[in-house]
Amino acid sequence: VRRIYLDHNATSPLRREARAAMLRHLGRLDANPSSVHGDGHAARMAIETARAAVAGLVGAPPESVVLTGGGTEANNLAIYGLCLREGVAGRRIVTSAIEHPSVLAPLLDLEERGFEVVRVRPDGHGVVDPAAVLEAAAPGTVLVALMLANNETGALQPVAELGRELRRRGIPLHCDAAQAAGKVPVDFGVLGADTLALAAHKLGGPQGTGALCVRPGLSLRPHLRGGGQEGNRRPGTESVALIAGFGAAAEAARRALPSEAARLGSLRDRIEAEILGSVPGSAVNAAGAPRVPNTSNLALDGIQGETLVVALDLEGVAVSAGSACSAGTVRRSHVLEAMGLERAAGSSIRVSLGPDTDAEEVAAFVGILGRVAARARDAVAAAGGGRR
Ligand SMILES: Cc1ncc(COP(=O)(O)O)c(C=O)c1O
Repeated sequence: VRRIYLDHNATSPLRREARAAMLRHLGRLDANPSSVHGDGHAARMAIETARAAVAGLVGAPPESVVLTGGGTEANNLAIYGLCLREGVAGRRIVTSAIEHPSVLAPLLDLEERGFEVVRVRPDGHGVVDPAAVLEAAAPGTVLVALMLANNETGALQPVAELGRELRRRGIPLHCDAAQAAGKVPVDFGVLGADTLALAAHKLGGPQGTGALCVRPGLSLRPHLRGGGQEGNRRPGTESVALIAGFGAAAEAARRALPSEAARLGSLRDRIEAEILGSVPGSAVNAAGAPRVPNTSNLALDGIQGETLVVALDLEGVAVSAGSACSAGTVRRSHVLEAMGLERAAGSSIRVSLGPDTDAEEVAAFVGILGRVAARARDAVAAAGGGRR
């Protein structure tokens, strides 16, 4: 049975260009990029080529790109790096209630260390009101962290609307763009963010590498201590093959973006129209928000999201529960709960498309989901009408 992979927001399979770049490096011994000999220089050149490609994807100057071990590390570097640096006077941090755990968890840690963290809730469509963020950013605020695209709903957040005003107030803005880069145009300068986190595996690069763009001139307390790599902001010998894969994926994603965004958007719209039209009790979460084109968060009332994920898996379809699935455990979605969708928070799935998704797969998926949902409803009815 052909598997249908609709979980690109979890990890998007390696792009052909990324695989080729990585194999070129794995097929030979890459020297240490910090070595002064010719072999070291060749490795350094590969890294700088990749850095320029990553920078190019998000309109950032190459020297602003700090290569990290992934999106989680980039978010941690920004948050600790900005809040714990020398000369930071205030103790207040403003963020949203729908951030990824790699933002929420370090902020919780800082809260336990005495910072005051304000988590602004989104509206019912999953969008945070910039005015509410600015209102919360009272004097003494040392950081505002707002993601660009939500990983569960795809809802785009008004980061650019905050950037200018926060700059005027002298408050640093961190933006987690891991789910936006490669899906919608992202411009570091236009957003006005001071730091911008990226994860390679969300755009067809390898897992375990990512980047933090840091506005030139901004000081950041390094999270790790060691050699002076990455301008002292992320010491440690660089993984040349992973970084080369990241660069190749970023370049390929940048080239494909205009046509892919339109293609995936129309496939996503087709899924939503057909499910809404054929599956009773279905709804699209965050339907009223501007969204990245590849993501759909579908609620199927009365059926547990986890049940759907397992049943779809048995039919050859890979999706995620609307609830975040980390380390193999499925929790109720903090994102849908923050949107006020208490009921949907336990009965939603996230469908996320990518470069390998085609119309045939979409049609097959719609048919399978319809059958799986009907079966699950029959089972619930037989067990006593919705009781668990
Ligand atoms: C919005 C967002 N930020 C950060 C991350 C973390 O990236 P990584 O898996 O590279 O640590 C993810 C991935 O799950 C994400 O969706």
